[in-house]
Amino acid sequence: MNSQWWRSAVIYQIYPRSFADASGDGVGDLEGITARLTSLRDLGVDVVWLSPFMTSPQKDAGYDVTDYCDVDPLFGTLADFDAMLARAHELGIRVIVDLVPNHSSDQHVWFQEALASVPGSRERGRYMFREGRGEDGSLPPNNWQSIFGGPAWTRVTEKDGAPGEWYLHLFDSSQPDFDWSNEEVREEFRRVLRFWLDRGVDGFRVDVAHGLVKQEGLPDYTPPEDADSMGGVEPVPYWGQEGVHDVYRDWRKLLETYDGDRVLCAEAWLPTVDEIAQWVRPDEMHQAFNFEYLMSDWDPAVLRTVITESLRAFHAVGAPSTWVLSNHDVIRHATRLSLAADFPQGHGIGPRSPGRPDQGEGLHRARAATAVMLALPGSAYLYQGEELGLPEAIDLPDEARQDPTWFRLKGERYGRDGCRVPIPWESDRPAFGFSETGASWLPQPDDWAAFARDQQSGLAGSTLELYRELLRLRRDLGVATSELKWIDPMPDDALAFRVGEVSVVANFGADPLALPDGAEVLVASGALDDGRVPYDTTVWARM
Ligand code: GLC
Repeated sequence: MNSQWWRSAVIYQIYPRSFADASGDGVGDLEGITARLTSLRDLGVDVVWLSPFMTSPQKDAGYDVTDYCDVDPLFGTLADFDAMLARAHELGIRVIVDLVPNHSSDQHVWFQEALASVPGSRERGRYMFREGRGEDGSLPPNNWQSIFGGPAWTRVTEKDGAPGEWYLHLFDSSQPDFDWSNEEVREEFRRVLRFWLDRGVDGFRVDVAHGLVKQEGLPDYTPPEDADSMGGVEPVPYWGQEGVHDVYRDWRKLLETYDGDRVLCAEAWLPTVDEIAQWVRPDEMHQAFNFEYLMSDWDPAVLRTVITESLRAFHAVGAPSTWVLSNHDVIRHATRLSLAADFPQGHGIGPRSPGRPDQGEGLHRARAATAVMLALPGSAYLYQGEELGLPEAIDLPDEARQDPTWFRLKGERYGRDGCRVPIPWESDRPAFGFSETGASWLPQPDDWAAFARDQQSGLAGSTLELYRELLRLRRDLGVATSELKWIDPMPDDALAFRVGEVSVVANFGADPLALPDGAEVLVASGALDDGRVPYDTTVWARM
């Protein structure tokens, strides 16, 4: 396997609970993943990233960890993990695991010890315990709000039964934040990194990588009403503090003591690509998610700007840009790109939301958007099910929902369950092949039979075949390692660029766009109109 693979890799996100369920209990597992890995090899991805499968009470779908060095029985055992990793490597697929260092579960032994100890103790010092404000300490230490809604502080009861200190949780109250100024916390995470590196993982996706260090004094902060769930107007006292970079410099050094090009990828929701690029300076992480790209409207001028800016900002620090359109925290792009109303990230969409999207238009646009993304130089992230053209599951019944956002805000926001529904494999099997028993932790929409992998495999023009073809050409023609050059002038409602020998043309306007004489179309995201590129369609061509 060649070095610096992460500069151009296609990384496929597996959301383990919704990928494939071998045990039949309705929640996906590691054995299920192992059994289905060949389909990812056939798709043509280089790497899989697994969302958390470590021991957890699953209050936030595993992003609330009790044991960082073990597998939750829901997903299997460490032996199942080793078997999955070995099988992936055998198939030439690398494996990245999710690391959640900002907070643990409240069931973590450290937090339980902290609760059982007195204020000021070593045990409390691993988390962010503070005295409340007001005469009797009955007001939270500051006004911070949880990303999932409601206050970011919860008050504990001390051993003598009296109301006591408060602890910080930027997310759910079951997810207490660690205190990263504490060397013991830092050492513990070095141990966790080594544990997985020793097992052979190729790297880590680092959860909330911009949040570990909080501003001295914990000053009050109020985000704007319509902010995305991780958004805000800078400076935000809990995002992007300078001290956080030391943690990653330290981790980078640790990774470099291992062979085989192991990587760190930052989940850092920051408003500009220049800021995100600070996480991938030469001595820090290797990659950072480009959420500015994900959040961009389907508009040629907007895309041209964000692509140009991303390449400039990441290249300025010697890192590749990454590109992403979907993940387990956002509305799937086959739905998002045709929404008539604005949905801040994390708020979700449901049966009573305004601005219901047109599914046909959404998928058509999503295919065009993916064909643009996979042509961009750098590394691309795919989210399970997008290769099937899956839309967001909007009509989940209220009683099925599980996202903490839904509970904390009493249904005021739907949250992220709609993008987390178990994916379909075979149209005529129970749970569309997700589990033998037909069990599924979130109900699958009835019309998902048509999206099942077996219905699309080998079918010319299907979304699955489009993804396969894009990935094959991307690899064979060295697209991701080429330099991007804009083709000018182009009509206002088009985007056109060259990457190596491939020219990419996307049409956003109503009038079909003619290609130059002699153009040889390599792949198109939709049917052409007499050789011309119609509305919301992208082609890769030699011209
Ligand atoms: C990240 C994860 C998200 C989780 C949150 C708290 O944003 O992607 O799913 O809820 O962190 O860990």
